[in-house]
Amino acid sequence: MTAIAVEDSQIVGAITVWRPSVQDRYSIVEPMNVLPTHRGRGIGVRLWRFIEAHSSERGDRGLRVWGIDGNRGASHFYGSTLKLQPVGVGTFWIGQHREAATEYRQDFARDGETQRPFDANP
Ligand SMILES: CC(C)(COP(=O)(O)OP(=O)(O)OC[C@H]1O[C@@H](n2cnc3c(N)ncnc32)[C@H](O)[C@@H]1OP(=O)(O)O)[C@@H](O)C(=O)NCCC(=O)NCCS
Repeated sequence: MTAIAVEDSQIVGAITVWRPSVQDRYSIVEPMNVLPTHRGRGIGVRLWRFIEAHSSERGDRGLRVWGIDGNRGASHFYGSTLKLQPVGVGTFWIGQHREAATEYRQDFARDGETQRPFDANP
């Protein structure tokens, strides 16, 4: 599913979520973008919250997303603004070009369950 943000009849942001084929798994967010002229105004958070509500209602376990570490804006957005948990590291590559990346995760709280705090140094 793709959700878009519209302002004055112009698409200013978009987010796509790939839902799992079975319930109780994570959805993957890829990609999400906000127009450069419209960044830093809360559109990204609102797009994320919209997808979060949709996936949660559909019974997904949570959301996962990858961010390239060199993309400081994305790292800040996922790690600090949304406070997602960093849960893995990996590499993106195109041809010979490689970029270190981090996987972030958001778990949805479910009835009778409490969220365990993430321990970065277990
Ligand atoms: C990352 C992105 C989707 C965030 O969307 P946004 O609408 O700018 O985010 P919001 O306004 O809702 O949230 C603002 C937060 O994002 C941070 N941010 C990230 N990139 C930013 C940018 N280019 N300009 C302004 N703020 C940015 C701000 O520091 C702010 O953090 P704070 O609230 O902790 O101070 C958007 O900046 C973007 O499209 N970036 C380029 C594409 C990209 O990196 N996509 C994700 C790759 S996986």
